[in-house]
Amino acid sequence: MVSSVVVRAPSSTANLGPGFDVFGLALDAFYDEIRLEKSDHGIKIQSSDTIPLVPEKNSAGLVVKEMTKKFKIKSGVVLKIKKGVPAGFGMGSSAASAAAAAVAFDALFELNIDSNTLVKFAGIGERASAGSIHYDNVAASTLGGFVIVRTDPFNVIKIEPPKELVLCIAIPNLDIPMKKTQISRSVLPNEIKLSDSIRNLSNAAAIVAGFMKKDVEMIGTSIKDIIVEPARQHLIPGFSQVKKNALYAGALGVTISGAGPSIIAFTSKSSNPKKICSAMEKGFMSAKVKCNTIICRPSNGAIVV
Ligand code: HSE
Repeated sequence: MVSSVVVRAPSSTANLGPGFDVFGLALDAFYDEIRLEKSDHGIKIQSSDTIPLVPEKNSAGLVVKEMTKKFKIKSGVVLKIKKGVPAGFGMGSSAASAAAAAVAFDALFELNIDSNTLVKFAGIGERASAGSIHYDNVAASTLGGFVIVRTDPFNVIKIEPPKELVLCIAIPNLDIPMKKTQISRSVLPNEIKLSDSIRNLSNAAAIVAGFMKKDVEMIGTSIKDIIVEPARQHLIPGFSQVKKNALYAGALGVTISGAGPSIIAFTSKSSNPKKICSAMEKGFMSAKVKCNTIICRPSNGAIVV
């Protein structure tokens, strides 16, 4: 009988421009690691990172609590959490913990849960940090690769990304407000023009086609969002300059990573990712903001290690 399990789950970027709350991509930039151990009773969280230790307020704790209830598990569980994904920067930090918890719980109690249900459980964790459930980051972190979250009926479609796809991410050194995701969702329009919806939909469809055809140029040049990005960009000082600089340095497409404030550039192996990163740094410097840049690739999903 299994008594403990360790799972690593990757960071992710959500939306990819026009795919708000629908598209996600797992990234090998950072990983969270969670050890789940059976115990006598109750749910306890241990971590040396600055994270909530109350299960209901912790994205992994909330997942374990709900799964314990749903599967009528009698045993207690101890979660040992090592955060690797920086929290609050649009890199899917809460989602990585939630995905790791769902996959670890499934393995620990040998439940053999199907992938859609695992993503649904991981999504519950987003409520602890984002306030609402959306599945784009958790689906990517759980399953890996590029994911499309279809909500009605619920179904996560995974596509293997092209090997040549490279991402440059600029993570600005900004103070992150509490409830950042809620704030960045509150600035979004309630209604949109049909013509804007058509333009976004055409690019979203081209992104899916690009992943199917393993065509990096089609993916990158379709990363264009005229609905969410314009509404949110004022929350990121230097956004326009970072985007302009990255495109000038050869990026195929640039947008906000998830709810921000990180900015992600899509490019290919044959471009010059270092040049794109330094162009993004200069863009942030124009707004007197320092940033860290990372060159990364798509990742596999959460795995038992
Ligand atoms: N799709 C979500 C958003 C991702 O952009 O608000 C944030 O976690």
